[in-house]
Amino acid sequence: MKRRNFLKKASVSCAGVVASSAIGSCNLSTSEKSIVFSNLKQVTRPIVIATWRVAKATEKAWEILQNNGTALDAVEQGCRVEEADVKNQSVGKGGLPDRDGNVTLDACIMDKFGNYGAVTAVQNITHVISVARKVMEETPHVILTGEGAKKFALSKGFKEEDLLTESSKKAWLKWKETSLYKPIINIENHDTIGMLAIDKKGDISGACTTSGLSYKMAGRVGDSAIIGSGLFIDNEIGGATATGMGEEVLKTVGSFLIVELMRQGKSPQKACEEAVKRVVKKSGERYKNFQVGFIALNKAGETGAYCIHEWFNYQVYAKGENKNYKSNYYNKPKN
Ligand code: GLY
Repeated sequence: MKRRNFLKKASVSCAGVVASSAIGSCNLSTSEKSIVFSNLKQVTRPIVIATWRVAKATEKAWEILQNNGTALDAVEQGCRVEEADVKNQSVGKGGLPDRDGNVTLDACIMDKFGNYGAVTAVQNITHVISVARKVMEETPHVILTGEGAKKFALSKGFKEEDLLTESSKKAWLKWKETSLYKPIINIENHDTIGMLAIDKKGDISGACTTSGLSYKMAGRVGDSAIIGSGLFIDNEIGGATATGMGEEVLKTVGSFLIVELMRQGKSPQKACEEAVKRVVKKSGERYKNFQVGFIALNKAGETGAYCIHEWFNYQVYAKGENKNYKSNYYNKPKN
């Protein structure tokens, strides 16, 4: 039986379990269990995939995975590379501000157990992905926001910093001359670093970090910190993460949708395509003016990516090679 068909069948009785650790918990016959194990032989791991052209971030994650580190450490450390890069104006320090000139950051992280931690609207802290991890591991909560999140970060030893760089300030002052809010596809929407990884043990984790849409309204929160929208991980199935117009991703709970489609037997590629089509369909004609892109990874290490408009790309480090790929896209000229 082909792997996908098997997953489809298994999902009826035990939610598509493919992880050996979970096999004991569902009613598979011995022959079905051996199919599961033989399928796991085809696994590509370790592997890391991230939105956009972020070779240094995937390199950092790969280094951790190669040294037997966990997928959780890999995605956190990978995201930190972009958060610290002041040239990346959509993440961390150097991120473009909201319309009042404040850089506010959102981030979330999920581990192999399905635990989740997030922060939203945080100012003056660069490594919000690490704050999100601390929320997950050291508080009884899953989301901290604004001043509360910052206070928590400071209590955990994070340093307060000015995140508005000269070049981001200059761009904001220029924007203020007209204050026109018209996000340009792949420029002002080029926002989020989402990263998914499988470690040598076969466990999956994911992380997502952003300064959100530039010149957003003060207090606006997008999809990136919200479980199921900007990121979703199910260690039995795989993970997905999103970039682009957060409002639209939120309305379709896109990352959760992709993982559920993979649970039903879709490949990561087909699942990303269906999620993008769902976003497009729900938007009517509006999709012409915004970008949404998804990447996905399943338990076997297969990857997928799809977006609405051309020029979304993604980075994959697998089998010792760190490569950038152009994503296939929906909005092609009709003949
Ligand atoms: N995708 C990031 C945001 O909309 O904030």
